Amino acid sequence: MGDILAEIYPWVKALHIISVIAWMAGMLYLPRLYVYHADAETGSDQSETFKIMERRLLRGIINPAMISTLIFGVLLLGTPGLVDFTDFWIWIKLAAVFLMGWVHGNLSRWRKDFERDENTRPAKFYRMVNEIPTVLMIIIVIMVVVKPF
Ligand code: HEM
Repeated sequence: MGDILAEIYPWVKALHIISVIAWMAGMLYLPRLYVYHADAETGSDQSETFKIMERRLLRGIINPAMISTLIFGVLLLGTPGLVDFTDFWIWIKLAAVFLMGWVHGNLSRWRKDFERDENTRPAKFYRMVNEIPTVLMIIIVIMVVVKPF
């Protein structure tokens, strides 16, 4: 298995980065939709349109992209000689990825609140939430590219 992973490493890394781009695009866009949706009148055409956009973005892009990021990420972890687990960077990266997953879970939960017209959080709350995936993405990319420690 190790030999195969070593051979296909460039393909697995390419597919990992493609999945990451799709996941991050959705994670940065969905909270932005919540910012505007929080100010839309319940039952209005605008609110109903936001519900469709949010559902399709989460189910059609964010969820599958997270799954493929994880699958290709784990395959990379299993590639012989690639990661030295005594280094710090990989643990900080995995901790930041875990937090990204936690944000993802909350975004999914809040989508259901909007769908049931039960959202009570203001636009300002989602504007702040929008910064979290950005900061986590910066930490993750610096850790994996620079490997500072
Ligand atoms: C559980 C999830 C993840 C695992 C297990 C994982 C693991 C890895 C591993 C082992 C590598 C190869 C490092 C190397 O070639 O030296 C890698 C590359 C990379 N990962 Fe992840 N990763 C995960 C999630 C993410 C996320 C969420 C992002 C971005 C937000 C990300 C961004 C990258 C980038 C940009 C590279 C290429 C680095 C380079 O070419 O130098 N990864 N990942």
